[in-house]
Amino acid sequence: MNQLNLNEQILAQISSAAKVIRSGGIVAFPTETVYGLGANAFDAIAVAKIFELKGRPKFDPLIVHIADLSDIKLLSFSDDSRIYQLAEIFWPGPLTIVVPKSTVVPDIVTSGLQTVGIRIPKNEIALELIKKSGCPIAAPSANKFGKISPTTAQHVKKYFPKIDFILDGGKTEVGIESTIIKLNTKGFEILRHGVITKEEIESIIPYYSEGKNDVISAPGMIKSHYSPNKPFYILNEELKNKIDRSKAGLISFSGTDTEGFQKVIYLSPKSERSLGQDLSEAAANLFGAMHQLEESDVEIIVAEPVPEKGIGIAIMDRLKKAAYQSQSAIHKNKFLE
Ligand code: TXA
Ligand code: MG
Repeated sequence: MNQLNLNEQILAQISSAAKVIRSGGIVAFPTETVYGLGANAFDAIAVAKIFELKGRPKFDPLIVHIADLSDIKLLSFSDDSRIYQLAEIFWPGPLTIVVPKSTVVPDIVTSGLQTVGIRIPKNEIALELIKKSGCPIAAPSANKFGKISPTTAQHVKKYFPKIDFILDGGKTEVGIESTIIKLNTKGFEILRHGVITKEEIESIIPYYSEGKNDVISAPGMIKSHYSPNKPFYILNEELKNKIDRSKAGLISFSGTDTEGFQKVIYLSPKSERSLGQDLSEAAANLFGAMHQLEESDVEIIVAEPVPEKGIGIAIMDRLKKAAYQSQSAIHKNKFLE
């Protein structure tokens, strides 16, 4: 989090990018999770450009990124001490907390909701950009709506070749989006799973679901998301027998039963050497694997399921949403006989 780790070249780029933000432009930047497409959170016109660029429906609110805990006071009038308890443990880091919003947050940022999702990212470039811009930065993931999230600057370029500015911070560490929680009177509920698990948060405050999330207040509830533009399925026993492996790319977690596939990408490279599997490593490599197979010449992509516990819950959530559309039309696929 200190500037010392950033070299002069990147600091100069961040200064230029901050100017773009201050003048109402859009900057793509790395966070520890995925790349974001950012604008000054207080500039409704700049934020509108993000929705337009992404092709994102206006009912889907944006997360606001801050660099300093005290900035919360600008965005929320809430004095809920639980926010600070959570922040102390998880920020900077991949946890977004949805809290009541202040009047200065433009409605377009929150899609008209009275709450705002806030987080401090754990990435030096992101933090420096926010500080130099002098404002909180509203940013969704830097992909076209419904498509695979970007974990490298190259992924961002693929979607937005003409964007004002892309800060390149290499491959993101965590690889999947932040866990999103909402505080209610009795505890917290999870709106999107991420690498910070329910159990970890429960060690700080109780879990309590009011069970009344509607589509708008429950992000990631859109069933289809993260979709490659090729047929994409989660592998099961039936598919294993039907699939024409010579035309298929496999995203492998276990490292087993990989023979015959046109391409194989190991989510946890340790598994390739029979050293077991690692879910954090798998999360970090997930979207990159999907991009790589989307760009390759395979006709169909299949992903092996991972155990649905801990970080595996978040990985399976992304896989199910990526597979949703293809799964609905599975009978039409000619490579499955
Ligand atoms: O890791 C991340 O969270 C990345 C990086 C860039 O920070 N951002 C990200 O943003 O994943 P996006 O826009 O792709 O997903 C954010 C989700 C959306 O599904 C949105 O519905 C939800 O956050 N969200 C934002 N504000 C909310 C609010 N006030 N209430 C409920 N959901 C909210
Ligand atoms: Mg997204």
